[in-house]
Amino acid sequence: MPFKNAVVFVTGGAGFIGSAVVRHLLDATDASVVNIDKLTYAASLESIPQAGRGNRYRFVQADIGDAGALRALFEQHRPGYVMNLAAESHVDRSIDGPADFINTNIVGTFTLLQEALRHWSGLGGDEQAAFRFHHVSTDEVHGSLGREGAFNEAAVYAPNSPYAASKAASDHLVRAWRATYALPTILTNCSNNFGPYHFPEKLIPHTIIRSLCGEPLPVYGDGLNVRDWLYVEDHARALTLVLERGAVGATYHIGGRNERTNIEVVRAVCALLDDMRPAAGGPRERQIGFVADRPGHDRRYAIDPSKIERELGWRPAETFESALAKTVRWYLDHEDWWRNILARGYKPVRIGELKGRSPR
Ligand code: NAD
Ligand code: TYD
Repeated sequence: MPFKNAVVFVTGGAGFIGSAVVRHLLDATDASVVNIDKLTYAASLESIPQAGRGNRYRFVQADIGDAGALRALFEQHRPGYVMNLAAESHVDRSIDGPADFINTNIVGTFTLLQEALRHWSGLGGDEQAAFRFHHVSTDEVHGSLGREGAFNEAAVYAPNSPYAASKAASDHLVRAWRATYALPTILTNCSNNFGPYHFPEKLIPHTIIRSLCGEPLPVYGDGLNVRDWLYVEDHARALTLVLERGAVGATYHIGGRNERTNIEVVRAVCALLDDMRPAAGGPRERQIGFVADRPGHDRRYAIDPSKIERELGWRPAETFESALAKTVRWYLDHEDWWRNILARGYKPVRIGELKGRSPR
């Protein structure tokens, strides 16, 4: 199996995608994983059931903006690979409070790059040649598409939300650290993910959980905004493949060719829930309501994944339909996981509307 005797730092490994990467590295490779996570509201250590088994996993609570903590970790563990998934990730939150996005996504990535560079500079020849810094990013850095076309690796950067702008800035830093300091970086930009352990603020889990709680299902604007969906475990496999075989300095766009309008997604979730757990009051579509649009709401995202398919042979294992059914089933079978998040104080209410307020 790949990554024998290798130490992989995964930042943000208690989050949605980071935890899928950690689970995949532990299950399908020989890597030893050090999960570095600040444990913000979005984190959940229960997302890594493998944590107590074997000795290839360590968790460290630390902020990627804390240079001293990072330096000590690099010196202690001497990783061969860094995968950066620590981020503030929710567009609606970035509208109400962009400061955390600037601090973690930009200053945090800068700090991690600096400490990785320091570590890499001190490595010997073979270790230095094998080292990789993999930055995980989003298609949202490219802004909004019209009716036609899809983002590929040559797409321009045109971010529209504070979240997207902060991710775009971090991508630029990674590029510059490669060009200027020769740090062996790789960048990936992926479309919208969904699947198990997804924090309840994002569209698909939000819809499942509110529906099960008998609450209205808010669809922003006319519901015709398009997102290109990918099952999180397919993304985790792609990221691991890129880490193992991707070309230094390259960018790979990752997506499953699953464009759907938001209203199609919400209706599909309702239909699956009706099937798996019929509601006493009848079909759940009746809970759907159109609400005020998100400020700066991007109309359409779509990824052209030809490069990663062609060069690395990656293909998603799931279709949108098979993955959505698995996801709905997972939330039904893991009510304790999301009820814990609600019990910790998370309220699935509308945010990011601005409503004449200034952002903090
Ligand atoms: P998430 O919000 O679920 O998890 C983020 C994790 O990072 C949390 O565990 C949090 O505690 C941790 N974190 C936040 N700030 C930190 C800091 N300063 N130091 C250390 N840890 C910190 O996010 P996600 O959906 O798993 O996204 C992971 C990455 O993938 C992000 O960079 C995001 O931009 C990117 N991405 C996400 C999607 C998606 O659909 N969710 C799609 C493409 C790319
Ligand atoms: P989201 O899951 O926040 O991901 P992103 O903004 O990063 O694409 O939202 C996905 C889409 O769903 C986006 O177009 C906004 C929309 N949306 C709703 O219509 N209702 C909701 O309650 C939420 C959370 C999102």
